[in-house]
Amino acid sequence: MKFLAIESSCDETSAAILESTEKIKVISTVTATSLSIHAKTGGIIPENAARMQVKYIMPVIKEALEEAFSKDANTALRQDIDAIAVTFGPGLIGSLLVGVETAKTLAYSFNKPLVPVNHLLGHIYANFIEHAEKIEFPFIGLIVSGGHTDLLLFKSHGGYKWLGGTRDDAAGEAFDKIGRVIGLSYPAGPEIEICAKKSKKQNVKFKSPIIGEDNFDFSFSGLKTEAIRYYEKLQKDQSNDSERINEICYATQKAIIDVLVKKTVRAAQENSCNTILVGGGVSANQTFINELTGKAQDVKMQVFSPQRAYCTDNAAMIGSYAAMNYTPVTWSDVNANPELYFG
Ligand code: KG4
Ligand code: ZN
Repeated sequence: MKFLAIESSCDETSAAILESTEKIKVISTVTATSLSIHAKTGGIIPENAARMQVKYIMPVIKEALEEAFSKDANTALRQDIDAIAVTFGPGLIGSLLVGVETAKTLAYSFNKPLVPVNHLLGHIYANFIEHAEKIEFPFIGLIVSGGHTDLLLFKSHGGYKWLGGTRDDAAGEAFDKIGRVIGLSYPAGPEIEICAKKSKKQNVKFKSPIIGEDNFDFSFSGLKTEAIRYYEKLQKDQSNDSERINEICYATQKAIIDVLVKKTVRAAQENSCNTILVGGGVSANQTFINELTGKAQDVKMQVFSPQRAYCTDNAAMIGSYAAMNYTPVTWSDVNANPELYFG
């Protein structure tokens, strides 16, 4: 089957064409980002994101179709596409509506089945693009993005159970909020990873929040307060030079990684899983993936993470979920749901 997949839940506008046989093949993927606009405002202003998505959505879909089939987009959609997949939540309402209403219109006009996809499950299914043959159930799924930090147990496709998640800020949000205060540009996660590597000393230590608690919950707002207070003190003492900034980055990253690794490996052990799948923007952090892989290998578990392009928001992961869980819904029953979670 060939899918047109559409993702527009946050600030990206993305379309991909995928073919699913026993494997999943991404034929084309096109993503437009309004990141430079959000970097100027230090974060995403929902109305700005949606306004850009209205502008980008049709050109992005057209380009993905034309690149995949080397023919005009209308003809390709009519002749070559079997189904359309679209993110219907969670996310920003204005952003979601752009993707969902476009997908509904195309499904109706071209008479194609429409598969609504939960964005969060899409992050986990990004792993099936490359690793489908190697992934074994049951597995633990860890979603670490700018908006979410969740641990799930998957016993089968569609058969999953939520084990725990963040009580306040998400892991990516902690990177971004701390980064903003210490003068890094949005989104700060990638730069914190680079600065952490440059840190010559590792003397600064921040507490890894609720790491000792016997649950699968996370909390990162206390870490944010600790890191910001530390930085403010440096500022007062006029010792906030680049080496001190690097040390804050190292300590922030370590506090976040330690708790993610510990609870994820324990979730796998307690649920008799030998496999862990990670997804979401923070899984682009190689220091985190190396640390998790090392700890998992110590107890004979394997870790899968998507290639970098499929860690952050993209339409290919939405198509991958739709291909592995093919459940079309009548187009008129598909609605954007910004509060969508697991259930
Ligand atoms: O999955 P994503 O693209 O969007 C959401 O669904 O939220 O994730 C974006 C998040 C941002 O918070 C960004 O700082 C973080 O992923 N991120 C990283 C890295 N690359 C992206 N965090 C830490 N290290 C990275 N290398
Ligand atoms: Zn995401």
